[in-house]
Amino acid sequence: MSILMNLEGKVALVTGAFRGLGRAIALALGHAGAAVAVTDLLMEDAEYDAKALSEYSPLAVYFSQSSEVKTLQIAQGIQVMGSKSYVMKFDITDYEEVKRVVQAKGVSNQ
Ligand SMILES: NC(=O)c1ccc[n+]([C@@H]2O[C@H](COP(=O)([O-])OP(=O)(O)OC[C@H]3O[C@@H](n4cnc5c(N)ncnc54)[C@H](O)[C@@H]3O)[C@@H](O)[C@H]2O)c1
Repeated sequence: MSILMNLEGKVALVTGAFRGLGRAIALALGHAGAAVAVTDLLMEDAEYDAKALSEYSPLAVYFSQSSEVKTLQIAQGIQVMGSKSYVMKFDITDYEEVKRVVQAKGVSNQ
């Protein structure tokens, strides 16, 4: 069974969107027409402090050192489906950082 949604004119901000459930949710929202902000702690073009990342999990360290992070590719996939997409790197546990990045990117539902 498939569920059809029309989210044109809406903006979705998906956290943890480079893999797993976040990735699937970002693609589904883009498919439904929403403009999607694809966000994650990890981005393929970013540099990382392995010690700081190790406070999150060994998985975050592993992925940051691999070529498997494909956040930009997910955003491009959404654009190919005809929806807008933005990429944002932030640590969801840092409220001030999240607020600053969202405001700087001008992501709003207008
Ligand atoms: N997979 C399941 O069946 C399942 C079931 C119930 C609940 N959950 C929960 O749903 C969430 C996602 O699950 P998943 O399997 O997709 O996990 P996952 O580990 O595959 O993906 C998590 C994503 O979040 C990102 N991330 C981690 N810390 C972050 C931070 N501080 N700021 C920004 N991004 C961060 C990671 O880089 C990764 O891309 C988890 O909290 C998990 O516990 C998962």
